[in-house]
Amino acid sequence: MAFHRRVQMGLLLAAAGIANVAATKQCVEFELPISVDTTNEHYNIRRVDNDVDAVQWALDSSIWNQTFGKIIDHVNITTTYNISAELCVPSEKSDKSDILQIAVHGNAWDKRAWDVQVRPEQQSYVDAAIAKGYSILTFDRIGTGQSTLVNAYDDAQPNTEIEILAQITTLARSGKLLSGATIISNTTAIPSPTPKKIVHVGHSFGSLLIFGLLKKQGDLSDGALLTGFLNSSHLRDVPVATFEHAYAATHDPARFGTFGSGYVVLTSLNTLQKLYFTKATLDAELLEYTERIKQPEPVAVYASAGQVFGSENTNLFRGPVQLIAGEADFVTCNGYCPGTYDEEEMKDQWFQNAANLTVYIAPDTAHVLNVATSASATYKKMLDYLEEHGL
Ligand SMILES: *[C@@H]1O[C@H](CO)[C@@H](O)[C@H](O)[C@H]1NC(C)=O
Ligand SMILES: *[C@@H]1O[C@H](CO)[C@@H](O)[C@H](O)[C@H]1NC(C)=O
Ligand SMILES: *[C@@H]1O[C@H](CO)[C@@H](O)[C@H](O)[C@H]1NC(C)=O
Ligand SMILES: *[C@@H]1O[C@H](CO)[C@@H](O)[C@H](O)[C@H]1NC(C)=O
Ligand SMILES: *[C@@H]1O[C@H](CO)[C@@H](O)[C@H](O)[C@H]1NC(C)=O
Ligand SMILES: *[C@@H]1O[C@H](CO)[C@@H](O)[C@H](O)[C@H]1NC(C)=O
Repeated sequence: MAFHRRVQMGLLLAAAGIANVAATKQCVEFELPISVDTTNEHYNIRRVDNDVDAVQWALDSSIWNQTFGKIIDHVNITTTYNISAELCVPSEKSDKSDILQIAVHGNAWDKRAWDVQVRPEQQSYVDAAIAKGYSILTFDRIGTGQSTLVNAYDDAQPNTEIEILAQITTLARSGKLLSGATIISNTTAIPSPTPKKIVHVGHSFGSLLIFGLLKKQGDLSDGALLTGFLNSSHLRDVPVATFEHAYAATHDPARFGTFGSGYVVLTSLNTLQKLYFTKATLDAELLEYTERIKQPEPVAVYASAGQVFGSENTNLFRGPVQLIAGEADFVTCNGYCPGTYDEEEMKDQWFQNAANLTVYIAPDTAHVLNVATSASATYKKMLDYLEEHGL
């Protein structure tokens, strides 16, 4: 009885959610060709072509005195990628219609991270932004989702990914986002927006890529919300091998058969729980959803973070920046963030000319805010922050 009632309630809520969303946003999915010309690094990373390689790769990455991931050469990347993207705009014009948010997901996800379909009225960041009147663009980074599945060793690195983000941002600002795009599906004809302001929203490695963009071309952004990103003194405590990785193509051939050499994937609910959740805000349905939408990750991303940390900071970013971390973020803070970072130091060293820097610690939340049951409370803090700073 109770079970049936719950199922019925669930269906009702789901139906209400869909109706609500359909009434408030219009979305278009499209494919964007982006040509890049950058120089990447070539590392001494072993080839990963099966599960044994995947485990050894994780061990290599975790050894205390590793020299693994050392730069042994440079590679020029001159190519065109297909970027799969989705633009959503509020159905009705609002006072935020001139502001576009561009969201960049973390490793092992794709753009669906921003539009969680379990109780979307609570979990979907896209819907939360739309409800406040913002337009929002999400896209699959190279090497994941429906975007080009690149060489996992040489291509999927910040130098390339920041260039892609810069071009998408520039296209969006000029109102030409859709002019060169191939429309995949749309609910209605949406003209390319011509935003006056652009806010970048990131998660984890996606936040790192935005940080790289702000250092290099900070004038392309009017504000940033960086989640799962904090210079914790425990940042490098948790080794890669803590989490189980398998070779993606054989782990689930139906889903990941097209991902080739060098793509690894998190194996199980247990490992996803360790990496992304904490029990206080864990809902089994959201954990299982995370398993359903998980993506492989190219090994190069693990070796290449230095491209961002080592890059020159032009200090051209003048907007406000909020850093949002889950209190119990395991990978970022070794499980407990409060007291492990210095807000002033991050402001002075990373965002010298930012209008404001604020850290928000989301209580009882881990590395991924979007699949925690606290999501809507966190989104409110993020969107309130923008409001407080005129965005
Ligand atoms: C790690 O340290 C040991 C002992 O000093 C040394 O023999 C080994 O070569 C080191 N490994 C690396 C990868 O530096
Ligand atoms: C990359 O291109 C630069 C010129 O843009 C050239 O000097 C360099 O030799 C090239 N590197 C490689 C590895 O091809
Ligand atoms: C990009 O997409 C177009 C159209 O779907 C396709 O013809 C082309 O081969 C794709 N290019 C890459 C690099 O995936
Ligand atoms: C989708 O967008 C295209 C290009 O703007 C337009 O021609 C088409 O009518 C749109 N589809 C719908 C269902 O409105
Ligand atoms: C980051 O943390 C490290 C180690 O805790 C510290 O030495 C460094 O100064 C910090 N940098 C910033 C920008 O906060
Ligand atoms: C940054 O903005 C927040 C409001 O979002 C405010 O509470 C805080 O005082 C500001 N920081 C500084 C140094 O002005």
